[in-house]
Amino acid sequence: MKRTEVRYIIFAFLLMTGQLVLAQRSCPVIPLPTVYEQGEGSFTVREGSVIVVKDSSLRALAAFLQTSLKQHTGIGLKIGGGNEGAAVILEKNGAAHGTDGYALQMTKNAVVISSPTREGLFYGIVTFLQMAFQSPRKESGLAISCWDIQDSARYAWRGLMLDESRHFFGKETVKMILDWMAFYKLNRFHWHLTDAPGWRLEIKQYPRLASVGGRGNYSDPGAPVQYYTTADIQEIIQYAQERYITVIPEIDMPGHATAANRAYPEFSGGGSEKYPDFTFNPGKAETYRYLTDILREAAELFPSRMIHLGGDEVSFGIEGWKDAAGVQQLMRDESLPGLKAVERYFIQRMTDSALKMYRKVLLWDEAADASLPVNRTIIFWWRHDKPEQLNKALQKGYPVVLCPRLPFYFDFVQNRTHKKGRKRKDWLNSLDKVYGFPDKELSAAMENNLILGLQANLWTELVRSRQHLEYLLFPRIAALSERAWTGSHNSNYQRFLFTLKAHLQLYRKAGIYYYNPFEPAETPELQEW
Ligand code: ACM
Repeated sequence: MKRTEVRYIIFAFLLMTGQLVLAQRSCPVIPLPTVYEQGEGSFTVREGSVIVVKDSSLRALAAFLQTSLKQHTGIGLKIGGGNEGAAVILEKNGAAHGTDGYALQMTKNAVVISSPTREGLFYGIVTFLQMAFQSPRKESGLAISCWDIQDSARYAWRGLMLDESRHFFGKETVKMILDWMAFYKLNRFHWHLTDAPGWRLEIKQYPRLASVGGRGNYSDPGAPVQYYTTADIQEIIQYAQERYITVIPEIDMPGHATAANRAYPEFSGGGSEKYPDFTFNPGKAETYRYLTDILREAAELFPSRMIHLGGDEVSFGIEGWKDAAGVQQLMRDESLPGLKAVERYFIQRMTDSALKMYRKVLLWDEAADASLPVNRTIIFWWRHDKPEQLNKALQKGYPVVLCPRLPFYFDFVQNRTHKKGRKRKDWLNSLDKVYGFPDKELSAAMENNLILGLQANLWTELVRSRQHLEYLLFPRIAALSERAWTGSHNSNYQRFLFTLKAHLQLYRKAGIYYYNPFEPAETPELQEW
């Protein structure tokens, strides 16, 4: 066949499948930028091409670009001051669009990434890297189609939560997650480090929390001790900072405290038959001192000065409080009419203590029932079937992060045939449901300025292996990213899928075991999970 014939057949095929329009106009970047236009020709990145930075405060960003490109494409760039020819130029100027906005302008001679902030420049670099990783490698270098982009984030909070109490994955997995969060412009890593099966954070003042509380996991109560040392945490924070990601630890209280209570039973408030030793004891002054000491140590470790105090599902073990030492006395002293009032009192008192050390206290949506300072508290709405709790939080004036179980709990399966992962009733957190958030009922709430953003939560009761974790995360992380960064602007699921298909190649190249929504049989669930 002649070349023109081959071209004609490809053209006819693309036209038939409706992909031609997409192929011509589709920007290869996820999340889709706010404004984008394809330019003329392409820019070629060659071995030895220069990243130009005039301002020495931008050298770390240039180094990030240099290292990432080398790692993924093998091409080594130089960093220089300006007179070296074809280049990627980082410029700290331009119109501000929030703290994260940037512009990317490409011609065949130069790529200019500009922003008034380093954060904005970082996102411009990420956009450029996404294009580079998807571009064909030629003898002369990497030919990247030219685009003209103006971009900024719809939401300031673009989060992902990882539960490492139920199963512990360790630093390398966390770094992999941070890499992909950065790739998708997600910027808040919420680290669920304490819960019933294991306590995963070294606290020097109370060493048994890690050495005793760190033993076991959801699958095996006798599993060897696993936790993060102070040095490990510092390493992760540094890694996240280089990617403009804020790390926020969660120290869950007063429920989900079983592992801590194994280590220091004197602070246990008991629990229920199903959830023994589930709570801290709100009736003892020593409990508040102990928890405040823990929070003080964490405050020194985590520079975000934000702490998530949990506050969820206390009802699972609250009946233990009836008999816990000091609780009846507390109720009399503070005129608390019942155990729910004790729960609110506990949350208010610990929030008060935490706010002496932290800028913000974060809590699950149960805490919207308590009276907390609205300018320093953030509520995480997770109970999708309790919209009244979201409304209550907003009416009281709390800023809110939306992470409803449907569709943002990524431990739920994403395909009806899947067996590994959480399943309940007809709940299904498929890719299109994540992309399709919010539904009509929530759209109005989304316009409220108190909505800080979106977050997906990866609970790990049923996730034992890194591969399974990857399978649940990919590709839903891409849909989360587009919702959180782009918002509903230019929403088009077919276009998203078209772009995503090319991103699956990047996952494959990186050795990620992802779910393939186009060909589910290609990567099935694995028996050994
Ligand atoms: C939660 O899922 N218990 C916040």
